[in-house]
Amino acid sequence: MAKRKFNIWRGDKSGGDFVEYRTEITPGMVVLDAIHQIQAESAGDLACRWNCKAGKCGSCSMEINGKPKLSCMTRMNIFGSDETITVQPLKTFPVIKDLVTDVSWNYRQKEKIVPFKPKPRDPDGNYRMMQEDVDRAQEFRKCIECFLCQDVCHVLRDQGGKDQFVGPRFMIFLAQLEMNPLDTADRIPAIRKEFGSGLCNITRCCTEVCPEHINITDNGIIPLKERVVDRYFDPVLWLKRKIFGA
Ligand code: SF4
Ligand code: SF4
Ligand code: FES
Repeated sequence: MAKRKFNIWRGDKSGGDFVEYRTEITPGMVVLDAIHQIQAESAGDLACRWNCKAGKCGSCSMEINGKPKLSCMTRMNIFGSDETITVQPLKTFPVIKDLVTDVSWNYRQKEKIVPFKPKPRDPDGNYRMMQEDVDRAQEFRKCIECFLCQDVCHVLRDQGGKDQFVGPRFMIFLAQLEMNPLDTADRIPAIRKEFGSGLCNITRCCTEVCPEHINITDNGIIPLKERVVDRYFDPVLWLKRKIFGA
């Protein structure tokens, strides 16, 4: 097998640049395997975060040939035989070292969200939900918090919107809570104001990169936007509020 060329970003918060490496690729390898091989052969200090190597922990997110991807799920055979593979850290979050970024902003967003507040159980001690409500929540619960959607969202990535918009990952977390019929909390005012639902313009870039194939925009964000519109911009409700002060 021929050696393949990789351009891997090396550096830290003070700056850095791409460094060229070559390594032999054998059938079945993924990009993370190639990175491990490069670490073993020629760059023992190359920093790269990973854990499960099975597409389930969300740790190995990086940008591969300009696209946000899980490196453990990106097969080498999708690249042309003489293609150089460029690997760099997520752009939306500050670099710690090499391919490792500081994604702690995301955890601070999650802390701001009012958690699940279930209504009381039925008299027999059970909670009951329709199967379709279970299925809806199940789609959102597939999220592995890889933050690839947060990385690609232009509001966070290019427009400096981290103070105004919570990002697609947390819009679906809000949807998971808001669409749960057992939940009693009202997060609609926060979704509009604090979490900035109006800033999403439904380009669907987040949905395209989600490795769990969650339909972030159509099943999560658009329904939340509709709830905000119903609450704040429905003319009938507006008139009612004017008259009755509700
Ligand atoms: S659809 Fe909305 S949340 Fe998704 S990438 Fe576009 S602006 Fe961001
Ligand atoms: S919604 Fe998808 S892309 Fe976004 S963090 Fe969850 S799994 Fe990753
Ligand atoms: S190492 Fe866990 S998702 Fe890639």
